[in-house]
Amino acid sequence: MTHARFTTLAVSGSYDHAEAARHLGSLSEPAHLATAQSFPSMEAMLAATAEDGDGWVYARRGNPTVRLLEQTVAALEGYRVDAEVSAALTATGMGAITLATMPLLSAAAGPKPNIVASPQCYGSTTMVFDKRYGEERDVDVRWVGDPLSVEDWAGLVDDGTRFLYAEVPSNPTVQLVDIPALAALARQARIPLIVDATLATPALLRPLALGADVVVHSLTKAAGASGRSMGGAVIARHGLGLRGQPEELSADYAGHLRRGSLRDMGAVLSPFNAWTILADIRELRGRVDTMSRTAHGVAEYLARHPGVVEVFYPGLESHRSHHIARRDMWLVDSELDGGEAENRFGFLVCFRPAGGVRAAHEVMDRLGLVWRANNLGQVRSTATIPGATTHKQAADADPARAPVPPDMVRLSIGIEHLDDIVGDLDQALRGR
Ligand SMILES: Cc1ncc(COP(=O)(O)O)c(C=O)c1O
Repeated sequence: MTHARFTTLAVSGSYDHAEAARHLGSLSEPAHLATAQSFPSMEAMLAATAEDGDGWVYARRGNPTVRLLEQTVAALEGYRVDAEVSAALTATGMGAITLATMPLLSAAAGPKPNIVASPQCYGSTTMVFDKRYGEERDVDVRWVGDPLSVEDWAGLVDDGTRFLYAEVPSNPTVQLVDIPALAALARQARIPLIVDATLATPALLRPLALGADVVVHSLTKAAGASGRSMGGAVIARHGLGLRGQPEELSADYAGHLRRGSLRDMGAVLSPFNAWTILADIRELRGRVDTMSRTAHGVAEYLARHPGVVEVFYPGLESHRSHHIARRDMWLVDSELDGGEAENRFGFLVCFRPAGGVRAAHEVMDRLGLVWRANNLGQVRSTATIPGATTHKQAADADPARAPVPPDMVRLSIGIEHLDDIVGDLDQALRGR
């Protein structure tokens, strides 16, 4: 299966005919919900327990249904990456971010640790770095002034830097960074570049293929688009050659985390959630394509609307990261569809209606088709005001850093028809 195309990998994953035969020929992956495996003998039990972590034994150590999703996620994120890639799955996206970053902060790895990160991040990520690492673990958290300036990043890196971190595109202002340039900077310092690519999904952008070392995802979003399960993933290339870190971590980052930190700290993905996400991830490319086309249409509609003062969408020329989005965001394998490769810019569109915070709340209240909800990447379109909800905690903690306009509405476009979404926005904006 290693040479299969992206959609084939998404549909088949690692569940092949031989695997199905081991499950009574079941055409879809079985959900193994048992918390533990039973063994025919003491000898078999000892052998499985002694294995280096990839067996089942006990569901915190491993589970066959979780493993199938893990292999699928690794195959999709590792698509067309010239290296071996593996993954570790977690209970939530924040679990993945914590799993990917915390082991790098070990006191044994050298001078007082610092991290260099883009401030354009999801609110809870900012809180983990500032509060959990900065305040509680005395890590020096260095937020980059202008994440589009590679010089700004380079100026903050020194011998104590443990990793570079960026969200691409960022939630909610959908900004990008120059991944290949930051990857070169990280390689020089022998530290990993970690990218949260939740908003892109591997259907539109694969940071490992652009040179990044580690990718994190919230599978709660577009991977699990039917909205039934939370989940997270850490995916990494092998052979990172990290300075001051254990050799096993450099050799197989995600595998080492799975067999060590994840198993010990325990924030594993539930097999039931893995099973629902396996069903959703099969159609990732087609779904993200539809959502992105519709989102682009919504962004263009909003950009023309007299009652809207600002639109944030990387597909619009007016957007600050547009040039990077055009370079890096492509619908995977679109060049095989009989034409040229095609850009797609994702499903998140933000806008500020004329009239400030009050007007934004009124627009939200008038929505009748789009759901008022704090998740994104779902098949149902959702809307929120991040400054008052998802990013409030971070904004309250430090209003000056990566400000999220308080009157900005965030739309996550689903798979409803463009005409109906625009119709809903039209009536919600009427009178603006
Ligand atoms: C970009 C991004 N990363 C990570 C997360 C955290 O994911 P979870 O809610 O699954 O922990 C979110 C949640 O909104 C997000 O938008």
